[in-house]
Amino acid sequence: MSDFFTMEPGEVAAPVPGGPVLCTGTAAMRRIHRVFLWSYDEAPGLARSAAAGDTERSGYVGEVLANIDKVLHVHHEGEDLLMYPQLRERAPACALHVDEMLAQHAEVKAMLDEIAPIRDRWTATADPAAGGGARPAL
Ligand SMILES: [Fe+2]
Repeated sequence: MSDFFTMEPGEVAAPVPGGPVLCTGTAAMRRIHRVFLWSYDEAPGLARSAAAGDTERSGYVGEVLANIDKVLHVHHEGEDLLMYPQLRERAPACALHVDEMLAQHAEVKAMLDEIAPIRDRWTATADPAAGGGARPAL
């Protein structure tokens, strides 16, 4: 039995797509970071693809956006629990960076917690005002 993350003999991973480089780690780490960057680049366009009041579309898009947020949180949680403690132990000189990453992950978690009810309200209503605040200029 295999899982999504383990290549079978003879399988070849897709190349890491171009774009910003968040880390110089393994290709798998760079790939998942690119997935997140790509996903969040797509998010505004996805949200705008739901016309005001189109709850069928906002329901779909909202679920997609919620799933992206969940996967990001799980990714960070996994790093926080399974990677950074070991890195701190094996490479004490990296402790400052570990602390910085843990703090950044906590900030992202706070933002995900803050956006969740706003996204859920928009998902249910397709009301452009459901965001309740000014939109950044794009
Ligand atoms: Fe990561």
